[in-house]
Amino acid sequence: MFVSIVTLQAFSLLIVLFLGKINIAQIIAASAAVFVSIGISVLLSKLITQPMNELDSMIEHAMGDESDDRLELRSFDEINKLAYDLDLLCHKYFEIVAENDYGNKKLQTLLEYVTDGVIAIDQEGRFIHANSAAMNLLGLKEYDIAYHRYDDVIEHFSEELRLADLYRAISTSTGLYVEDSFNYAGATYLIRFGEFTSEAHSGIIIVIQDVTERQRLDDMQNDFVGNVSHELKTPITTIKSYVETLIDGGDELDQEMKDEFIEIIESEVDRMSRLVRDLLQLTRLDYKQQKWYKSKADIVQLIKVCVKKMEYNVKAKDQVLNMLYVGESPIFIDMDSDQIERVLQNLLSNAFKYTPEHGRIDIDLVEYEDAVEIIVSDNGIGIPEADIPRVFERFFRVDKARSRELGGTGLGLSITKQIIEEHNGTIEIKSSLGSGTRVMILLPKPRLRGKHCIN
Ligand SMILES: Nc1ncnc2c1ncn2[C@@H]1O[C@H](COP(=O)(O)OP(=O)(O)OP(=O)(O)O)[C@@H](O)[C@H]1O
Ligand SMILES: [Mg+2]
Repeated sequence: MFVSIVTLQAFSLLIVLFLGKINIAQIIAASAAVFVSIGISVLLSKLITQPMNELDSMIEHAMGDESDDRLELRSFDEINKLAYDLDLLCHKYFEIVAENDYGNKKLQTLLEYVTDGVIAIDQEGRFIHANSAAMNLLGLKEYDIAYHRYDDVIEHFSEELRLADLYRAISTSTGLYVEDSFNYAGATYLIRFGEFTSEAHSGIIIVIQDVTERQRLDDMQNDFVGNVSHELKTPITTIKSYVETLIDGGDELDQEMKDEFIEIIESEVDRMSRLVRDLLQLTRLDYKQQKWYKSKADIVQLIKVCVKKMEYNVKAKDQVLNMLYVGESPIFIDMDSDQIERVLQNLLSNAFKYTPEHGRIDIDLVEYEDAVEIIVSDNGIGIPEADIPRVFERFFRVDKARSRELGGTGLGLSITKQIIEEHNGTIEIKSSLGSGTRVMILLPKPRLRGKHCIN
């Protein structure tokens, strides 16, 4: 600006000189005027242009600088003051932006870590946000979020949770949010939704939770309570009716009949006490309260004891029970002998119960380098293929009436499985209907340490 003013002044002086219509005095006066105006120009340039340039560079500096460095106020004239205020404004602006950014990131991280699906949609059903869990639960892709509406997505899962349905439910609800559920592909989902309004958006927030497992546990618990009540009700009813008959018609009954009734009552009481014992053990196993008394013990000896205990029953049914293993030396494994004895007794008693008279039961043992396998097989009634995976379920019996008649409660194999798993072993059943059953248990042997065997 200063250069252009000086150039203009000099140019006008030259025009006057060339025209030659003025004298020397006038030229001096004109020159003086030119110099004065040059001085004024320089002054004006210093006062206005330079601070303006400085102000410009200050603003540029402040806009591009997110650090905490502040501009120095060199003088207190208005323009410097203005620059200082602008700088302050920029720093405040960056602070607010940073704070918002931090808040957003925090919220986004939180939403990403929650296992429930969280979706925000606007009033038209456009997606504002969907966290990863929601994307996974509903099988959404980034593309769906950008180009599809909520209704297009949800209608694959439920026809009763469209945007209009949600608004209708919200308008009639008195609570903060509305709760609903839907089933899809064998899973159960709980959905909670409520309206939100902010300066930027308003719409609905939806939280989706996969409650399949919880539902399954609830159902199992209900089934369990139902089964227990039923199992207890049957012997109680039997006992009650026999006791009443004994009391009411006691005089008319002969001794033989009385004895028979008392025997039935006794066996029903036994059944109830077995049931209560099994239930207590299952509860202890479930709540990890079962005490395990593990020590190195000879599994060969334990099998022999169990076979001996079964001999009387087997003979009564004219069955043959064979211990196929002929090895003489002991095989030590780390076990709770009482619990493993329970396992063996249950397997042998199953083979005995579900094998008709004159049948055959074998128990064998195979020793591997790091494990032992116990195999109990029979040529009894067998288990239908479809039922094999279910025999470890609580209260499951292939033929309820027959099993109950034989005194079974359907808890034996579920307890057996838990005991074997506690010993880091496995149990497997193979069976063919009408031909027989084979149960295989694999138990690990204690590890060898250095040159010395633990046992
Ligand atoms: N060796 C087998 N042969 C045929 N069916 C079997 C055999 N072992 C088990 N099952 C079937 O599996 C079901 C579950 O067995 P589990 O031992 O759990 O119960 P249970 O013997 O009926 O009763 P509990 O053992 O509690 O007295 C049995 O009711 C029976 O239907
Ligand atoms: Mg059993």
